[in-house]
Amino acid sequence: MQEISTIQQMKDWSRQSRNNEQRLGLVPTMGFLHEGHLNLVRHSLAQCDRTVVSIFVNPIQFGPGEDLARYPIDLERDKKLLADLGVDAVFIPKKDELVPPDMNTFVQVENLTEHLCGHSRPEFFRGVTTIVLKLFHIVQPDVAIFGEKDRQQLEVVRKMIEDLNLDIQIVGLPTIRESDGVALSSRNSYLSPEERESARSIVQALESGKSLILNGETSAEIVKNQMRSVIASRTGTRIDYISVCDPRRFGEIQRIENPVMLAMAVHIGNTRLIDNYLVEKNSCKEPC
Ligand code: PAF
Repeated sequence: MQEISTIQQMKDWSRQSRNNEQRLGLVPTMGFLHEGHLNLVRHSLAQCDRTVVSIFVNPIQFGPGEDLARYPIDLERDKKLLADLGVDAVFIPKKDELVPPDMNTFVQVENLTEHLCGHSRPEFFRGVTTIVLKLFHIVQPDVAIFGEKDRQQLEVVRKMIEDLNLDIQIVGLPTIRESDGVALSSRNSYLSPEERESARSIVQALESGKSLILNGETSAEIVKNQMRSVIASRTGTRIDYISVCDPRRFGEIQRIENPVMLAMAVHIGNTRLIDNYLVEKNSCKEPC
């Protein structure tokens, strides 16, 4: 596996792949890889001739007081996991080269970033789209793969691609979960054993919301109240948002029709976790 740390080296490597007409897959990550990331990587390896994984803890998607300073990093472990899978190149850019202190250009997708995570983390999506677009320009992938746990991020990136006429196929893959249903996240590493137990309330709330809908409930307010009560029954939890919304544009809905997204962000102690289910009345896209 080639380890690349400069933008020029990455561009040269990608240009060579394109000259050889190889289909290039990119999996953008912030590292501290878990099975969810590895699933994205395996997909790229299966679908593309060459796979690049980027690892960059992107400072411009963190707001003041968020967890940038303590975000978990283990590059040696990440590199070994990727090399063992057969990844062709890992791109680990230096912070000051990718985000120079005098950088003045940012990319903002409007409207769908105003909801959910965009509401409570106003800097987040601008930081994500700016860095993802830079990675797309540098790596020039044919395909880029993201996880559906961050479904809003996935749709925001899709909208950016559409609006800016980029020829990159965006693939979203289902959330990978622990055996008790908790979604895999690098931030789960912050949780104490008691907090890990409380984190189960998130998937339990989603399950209870889904079950109401599949049993015919059409009031989003009733579904949200039910999910809120599941979260509130656990100690150490604080709801950031709970939403029943349109799965592409994320506006809140009142009356539930097919399909609908149940989404939430919950603080478990000092750790903010997100998760979502896409619920369709005749079939459910998450484990039913
Ligand atoms: O999902 C993530 O890990 C990040 O938001 C991403 C897409 C790598 C951009 O920094």
